[in-house]
Amino acid sequence: MSAKRENFGSRMAVILAMAGSAIGLGNIWRFPYMVGEHGGSVFIIIYVAATLLISLPVFVSEVVIGRRSRSNALTAFWKLSSGKRFWKIVGFLPIAIPLIIASYYSVIGGWSIDYLYKSAAMTFVHTEPSQVSAVFDSFVTNGAEPVLMHLLFLLFCTLVVSSGVKSGIERFSKITLPALFVLIVVIAVYSISLPGALAGVRYLVKPDFSALTPSTFAYAMGQSFYSLSLGMGAIITYGSYVSSRENILASSAGTAVSDLLFAILAGFAIMPAVFAAGIEPGAGPGLIFRSVPYVFSQMGQGAPVISSIVAAIFFLAVVVAAMTSCISLLEVGVAFLVEKFSMKRWHAGFLLFFLCGGAGVLCALDGRVFDGFDYLASNILLLLMALLAVVFVGFVMKKEDVRDELTNSGSLKGSGTLFPVVYFLIRWVAPPAVVLIFISNFIL
Ligand code: PFF
Repeated sequence: MSAKRENFGSRMAVILAMAGSAIGLGNIWRFPYMVGEHGGSVFIIIYVAATLLISLPVFVSEVVIGRRSRSNALTAFWKLSSGKRFWKIVGFLPIAIPLIIASYYSVIGGWSIDYLYKSAAMTFVHTEPSQVSAVFDSFVTNGAEPVLMHLLFLLFCTLVVSSGVKSGIERFSKITLPALFVLIVVIAVYSISLPGALAGVRYLVKPDFSALTPSTFAYAMGQSFYSLSLGMGAIITYGSYVSSRENILASSAGTAVSDLLFAILAGFAIMPAVFAAGIEPGAGPGLIFRSVPYVFSQMGQGAPVISSIVAAIFFLAVVVAAMTSCISLLEVGVAFLVEKFSMKRWHAGFLLFFLCGGAGVLCALDGRVFDGFDYLASNILLLLMALLAVVFVGFVMKKEDVRDELTNSGSLKGSGTLFPVVYFLIRWVAPPAVVLIFISNFIL
């Protein structure tokens, strides 16, 4: 029934592809602003702890589901639950959720392409913050431009996904991920070197215990889940391409560390420049599209060409980071269509292009649809699916099978000692923590 499955070629390829999924808009715009709002270094410490104790066990669980089943996300639940009705229904969730995210995510991807062009064309040189904001407002309300850019972004992602796991996804992330780290380091160095930038560094690292409230924990966990692409079927699907010789714990940890490192680098790329320009660190996508173009153009009053290049590099990084994430979202649906309906990859890719493209056009034209998609996917469905995945591995799959996956049937050195700890986190720490975030989203 199913076409021959491909595998990622090496541990590095697994980590780069998974980190490609994880590193995205969540790291570049959400993380830096969250750190500032929620107590600086205190937030970072909570974030790291949440990642190690809660997100990483969920991540590992998703990889286990993928690799054990060697199937797309729907078939994975069907196979491993031996066809139990509840889990058969659950299987549809990880196919549907990524389509919702891909639709609005690619709209922001499109904005970033446009801003890459605008920055390179020196549109923002010698402008005031109000002018930069006006450019953004008129751009997002000008139907045609954001729609076209969204489709262009999605088309590019579709082409990569349709080219295959190895020759598309693996090859693309092998080139772009290392480049992404270089770009963000270049911007961080430039940003920190600006006069007045130290205030931004302080904003990121200064512990502010007064900002610490119960909701800080919920924000840190929610951010960590989103950032690691959990609860979307993406990691289950990528997990299904991990070879049987690979060490799941090691590659999961490698992915989490890269994701965290990139988020911190993004913080140092953005905040020092924002402070140097005397701008209040704002929230959400606005920080990138309203403040950053101004920040870099303002800094370049003396050297507009250099500042425009830096702004263009910044948006190039945003575009690439968003692409590797969107690619993982599309791959969930492509794997499903190819395996369940014996479709050709190219056909599956373009079917999804039309589906997400169409829904994305609605998001690009109407901010309420955009916000609705984001809220539904990131605050509700993501948590629900992550909870189901970790409960599935902790309580539905046989312990022996999980042990086999995490120790490669006992052949991995040290994994036997680590297994009980990870299994405990999967069963007794992650599920209650996810339920708590879920509840706190409604009451805090
Ligand atoms: N992890 C991505 C980010 O931080 O931007 C977002 C994301 C991508 C979430 C892919 C889920 C996913 F499947």
